[in-house]
Amino acid sequence: MSEKRIRDITDLPGVGPSTAQKLIDAGYTTIEAIAVATPRELSEITGIPTLQAQKIIEAAREALDIRVKTALDLKRERMRARRVTTGSKSLDELLGGGVETRTITEFFGEYGTGKTQLCHQLSVNVQLPEDKGGLEAKAAYIDTEGTFRWERIEQMARGVGLDPDKVMENIYWVRAVNSHHQMAVVEKLFDMVGKENIKLVVVDSLTGHFRAEFPGRESLALRQQLLNKHLHQLMRLAEIYDAAVIVTNQVMAVPEMFFGSPDRPVGGHVVGHAPGVRVQLRKSKGNRRIARVVDAPHLPEGETQFAITEFGIRDVE
Ligand code: GTP
Ligand code: MG
Repeated sequence: MSEKRIRDITDLPGVGPSTAQKLIDAGYTTIEAIAVATPRELSEITGIPTLQAQKIIEAAREALDIRVKTALDLKRERMRARRVTTGSKSLDELLGGGVETRTITEFFGEYGTGKTQLCHQLSVNVQLPEDKGGLEAKAAYIDTEGTFRWERIEQMARGVGLDPDKVMENIYWVRAVNSHHQMAVVEKLFDMVGKENIKLVVVDSLTGHFRAEFPGRESLALRQQLLNKHLHQLMRLAEIYDAAVIVTNQVMAVPEMFFGSPDRPVGGHVVGHAPGVRVQLRKSKGNRRIARVVDAPHLPEGETQFAITEFGIRDVE
């Protein structure tokens, strides 16, 4: 494998400035778009000879890691994954050392369980130096509910001893107004994440728009299909750029359920099949919250407590 990181279509072997322009003019602005094209289609639309088109597509697929891997490759990838601290040692331990890059971590739970607080805290903590549990990198925050608060970021930045203005400068915030926009924003991030050294991408909430726009049983299949597509987008983003992806999912408590989990996501386990780590959050006394990891094959099952304090997420005193 070549050592050069391919981040942009102009980095693809066989793509010079004029070819790049032809691709861009024809709407092939991302490596993604090229990787899924056929040589014939690409050639017809851009006027690039078929053989060259084929080579470009192969290079794009290679860059996106669409190739067969061995178990050892998988092991090495897992070892390369890096982690971001949540601010609570006990929660980090539960997660095997913090939230992982190359993975989607889903926080799900009722309102007020701390999902948004964790998203804020991780957007701050990813900026910490590695010896403090960060990756010295930036965050992108897709806010679907309008609950992002820069004031809270300021407090949390002070809480970890970072300059609040610098921390705020390193968090890119986008308000996604509907599910379509939400997915388009993620597409857009493919251009940005590598260039800007973004290592943490938040989608708070993952499911809100989808539920509002596709209510009821009859639209369940379509909603699920779109959510799957969205999750795959996010998974690719995590893998290609070695980024941690954090998503939230509000679920309603169903007290009459005595078996299994007392909380059930509204409209079923929408994100149940996606790869990654699912963390269930519950309220405890006062500012305490209970976290439990569910169906993570590489993590032991168990639960722990953390606290939401003035300075952010911390261990329970
Ligand atoms: P939904 O988005 O409604 O599903 O809830 P959520 O899980 O995102 O809840 P969120 O993360 O917003 O948690 C809210 C809890 O965090 C509140 O109940 C507060 O106790 C706490 N909290 C929020 N902001 C602050 C703050 O500025 N200071 C302190 N000390 N606690 C806060
Ligand atoms: Mg929230």
